[in-house]
Amino acid sequence: MTVLVTGGAGYIGSHAVLALLEAEYTVLVLDNLVNSSRESLSRVERLAGRQLTFIEGDIRDRQLLDKLFAEHAIEAVMHFAGLKAVGESVAEPLAYYANNVGGSVTLFQAMADAGVRRLVFSSSATVYGEPECMPLSEAAPTARASNPYGQSKLMVEEVLKDLARADARWSIALLRYFNPVGAHASGEIGEDPQGPPNNLMPYIAQVAVGKREKLSVFGGDYATRDGTGVRDYIHVVDLVEGHLRALEVLKHCTGAHAWNLGTGRGYSVLEMVAAFEAISGKRVPYTLQARREGDVAECWADPAKARKELDWQARRGLEEMMADTWRWQSKNPDGY
Ligand code: NAD
Ligand code: UD1
Repeated sequence: MTVLVTGGAGYIGSHAVLALLEAEYTVLVLDNLVNSSRESLSRVERLAGRQLTFIEGDIRDRQLLDKLFAEHAIEAVMHFAGLKAVGESVAEPLAYYANNVGGSVTLFQAMADAGVRRLVFSSSATVYGEPECMPLSEAAPTARASNPYGQSKLMVEEVLKDLARADARWSIALLRYFNPVGAHASGEIGEDPQGPPNNLMPYIAQVAVGKREKLSVFGGDYATRDGTGVRDYIHVVDLVEGHLRALEVLKHCTGAHAWNLGTGRGYSVLEMVAAFEAISGKRVPYTLQARREGDVAECWADPAKARKELDWQARRGLEEMMADTWRWQSKNPDGY
């Protein structure tokens, strides 16, 4: 079975491509390399011992999409392509809406015209807005996001729900990621942010390897066990296993289905720092700073629906997340 993976050279996409190749899928990657490099895919091919087809291009390029669907027997699409920096999205909303919403709609139009109606979409727990009660199940209401990035995820979910309502032949997974971290156990592929990382885990790793001086902990006065923010961190390899399960399940059902991909367990920022120090043997100096705008105190998943319907659950614990992050970062201090 041939799968088109948009954004397949990126952090999560590259891990998904590896898992697909290992599961004997034929893989086509479409990526414009705006936030990634071709090297990630060369490493994926080496790890898998199999080749993929790489097309450097943009999901907004309708002609290119039509050509891909005409030339390859694509049966499903995993759609990771998009911009993801929250702060940048506030400064450049049009770029985010054009890329994440406009690009997605162009992709879905090309799929519809080619008769390819099986799709796995990278959504986010950000669609729940500023929730009050934990854990978050898929039945929790979605809400306006505090930034255009989050809003773009919500908008694409709405587009896809309308699409499934209009045409019952579509099979769509809306996978709501909690906080993906970690790397493949080989240390060959991982997260390679351009410039200062926006997210906690890559920032901690860059402090440990000596690229950044210290971590700023955003807020020490939340109503949490140690005052710092609590999140549901999920190992990227568990996350992509959820994608492969979703792809299987979509073969036998139609409609648009939301599934949380999280562990069901939250850790605070300081617990993450302590766990990373223990595994790596490195110190991670930090200072307490003001809260970051738009942050919630706590967020973790109720993963029961994915467990039941996808027969999937995260298996890798905090130690493995830390060990794999550190192996990737220490082997590749400057990324790819
Ligand atoms: P990433 O930036 O590493 O990967 C995205 C990839 O898409 C990159 O390789 C980039 O070059 C490519 N891309 C961007 N715009 C494109 C376009 N117009 N045409 C073709 N390729 C394009 O990000 P990631 O962390 O791997 O995230 C993958 C997806 O998961 C994104 O949609 C992101 O919004 C979503 N997501 C990520 C997280 C997270 O914490 N990493 C959480 C929730 C959801
Ligand atoms: C953020 C985004 C979210 C996006 C997700 C994945 C915001 C408000 N939310 O989620 O939309 O889907 O990334 O890309 O940006 N922290 C620090 N110091 C740092 C970095 C983070 O203390 O340098 C803290 C945060 O305050 C938070 C926790 O660490 O409590 C996790 O932060 P982060 O990794 O950025 O993820 P989210 O905020 O959950």
